[in-house]
Order: sequence, then C-alpha cells, then structure tokens
Amino acid sequence: MKKRDLLFVAIAAIIVLVLWAAPPETTIRVPYDDTHRELKATLEHEGKKATEEICRTCHNDKDLPLSKNHPPKYRCLFCHKLAEPAPDTKDRLP
Ligand code: HEC
Ligand code: HEC
Repeated sequence: MKKRDLLFVAIAAIIVLVLWAAPPETTIRVPYDDTHRELKATLEHEGKKATEEICRTCHNDKDLPLSKNHPPKYRCLFCHKLAEPAPDTKDRLP
C-alpha cells in the first residue's frame, strides 16, 4: 500500500472512532404522553415539516412560550427526538 493510502485509512478510522464515541444526544425528548403520543403517527405519515407545524399550534409565544434562551427553533425535530414508547420510566430519556 502507498503511504498516502495508509494515511487515508488512518484518517477514516479516526473519524469512525470519533463518531462512535460521540455522547448520546442530550436535548430533552418530546415526551411520550397523551399530548404528544399522536405526533408519532403524524411524523411517520406526513413527515417532519408537517409535524412541526403542529408543535407550533401549542408551543408558540402566546400559549406555551419557549424559554428566552431556547436555541433557534425552526426545526423542532432536528433537536428534539420523540421519546420511545415505554412502559416505565423511559418517557424522558436522558
Ligand atoms: C396539544 C398541544 C401540544 C402539541 C401539539 C405539542 N406539545 Fe409539546 N408540550 C405541550 C405541553 C402542555 C407540555 C408540557 C406538559 C407535558 O409534558 O405534556 C409539552 C412539553 C413538551 C416538551 C418537554 C418539555 C419538558 O420540560 O420536559 C417538549 C420537548 C415538547 N413539548 C416538544 C414538542 C414538540 C417538538 C412538538 C411537535 C412534534 C410538540 N411538543 C407538540 C403541548 C403540546
Ligand atoms: C437547535 C436545536 C433545537 C431546536 C430546533 C428546537 N429546540 Fe427546543 N430545546 C432545545 C434545547 C437545547 C433546549 C433546552 C433544554 C435541554 O434540552 O436541556 C430546548 C428546550 C425546549 C423545551 C423546554 C422548555 C424550554 O423552553 O426550555 C420545549 C418545550 C421545546 N424545547 C420545544 C421545542 C419546539 C416546539 C421546537 C420547534 C418549534 C423546538 N423546541 C426547537 C433545542 C432545540
């Protein structure tokens, strides 16, 4: 193998390792409760953008304002994953 190829392989390996070791996402999840449960089906059938429109019908400045230091909020679901349905305490995964 050429030296350059070796370097390429080494860099690729490092990238894979870094991604592997990345911490789990820490943003709070959308709770799996009565309010949010049905959004999972909307997401599956109509996609992210349509679902985010629904988020805004409740999470807007009038009804349920987000905190002042909330990051830019255009695409809710890029940051907030839906919590998995779970029988016990997994409603809010870390
Ligand atoms: C029908 C109104 C409604 C809709 C639609 C809705 N939410 Fe909520 N959401 C609430 C209410 C009320 C709470 C606070 C009480 C609770 O946990 O259910 C909440 C809580 C949350 C929380 C947790 C906050 C915390 O402190 O734990 C997140 C995250 C969230 N919503 C994100 C979303 C996202 C993303 C969407 C769209 C996919 C969405 N919500 C759609 C009403 C709604
Ligand atoms: C760029 C990433 C990002 C986007 C986009 C985003 N959020 Fe958040 N959201 C966060 C972070 C970070 C927090 C702070 C709480 C935490 O995770 O520790 C948060 C907190 C919240 C909370 C808890 C209450 C508060 O205001 O702190 C709710 C509810 C919420 N987000 C709903 C939404 C909704 C609804 C949308 C879309 C309209 C949205 N978020 C878009 C990252 C994001």
